[in-house]
Amino acid sequence: MEKHAILVASAMIFCVAMAPVYGQYYFETVLAPPRVEKMTRLHFFFHDIVTGKNPTSVPIARPNITGAGTYLTLAAMDDTLTVGPELTSTIIGNAQGLSLYTAKDPTMFGTVLYTDFAFTSGRFNGSSFSLFSRYPITKAATAVGTVVELAIVGGRGAFRMARGYALTRAIYSNNGDAGLEFNVTLYHY
Ligand SMILES: *[C@@H]1O[C@H](CO)[C@@H](O)[C@H](O)[C@H]1NC(C)=O
Ligand SMILES: *[C@@H]1O[C@H](CO)[C@@H](O)[C@H](O)[C@H]1NC(C)=O
Ligand SMILES: *[C@@H]1O[C@H](CO)[C@@H](O)[C@H](O)[C@H]1NC(C)=O
Repeated sequence: MEKHAILVASAMIFCVAMAPVYGQYYFETVLAPPRVEKMTRLHFFFHDIVTGKNPTSVPIARPNITGAGTYLTLAAMDDTLTVGPELTSTIIGNAQGLSLYTAKDPTMFGTVLYTDFAFTSGRFNGSSFSLFSRYPITKAATAVGTVVELAIVGGRGAFRMARGYALTRAIYSNNGDAGLEFNVTLYHY
């Protein structure tokens, strides 16, 4: 209740603060100045924990369809990014977003990830990249070492306007908890 009141109050402050801003519709289209594209490679580990008292990924909605199982479940995540393969290794960022369990075919069980990977230390502290891609859980789990490619569609900070891809591989998988190795290649300015 108190939280709700604070939210409403801050929303009102925002409205009041915005009120005196008057503007005009404005546009301009020019040739973009030539820019040199940079390429950045990143290596880290991603941990998606669904079990225990402190999960990092939690189901937030699912349809009321008998027998649907996890199909069409939407999960919110705040997953940990670490330097090394253990969850206890140095944390360098977090991946926040949604995971939607979409694949209808139970033999091709998978999700679509809508996730912002942000760095909280090091050279890219404050920057993030946006990943939007399907993740075929069955395929990744079938054979240990299977590499799954994910699409990166944007970014902020040092990764503004980034495009790229991530090559991932499961390094552990226990009762739904999963750890992935990430090799990311980003093209940005
Ligand atoms: C789920 O669907 C069943 C059958 O239509 C219905 O009886 C039940 O109330 C529904 N549950 C919820 C939480 O909506
Ligand atoms: C990352 O950036 C934030 C905000 O600028 C700062 O407070 C924090 O100390 C930085 N962390 C590290 C490890 O550099
Ligand atoms: C990531 O790159 C390292 C170093 O080249 C390599 O050993 C590892 O197999 C790669 N992992 C994936 C998932 O591509």
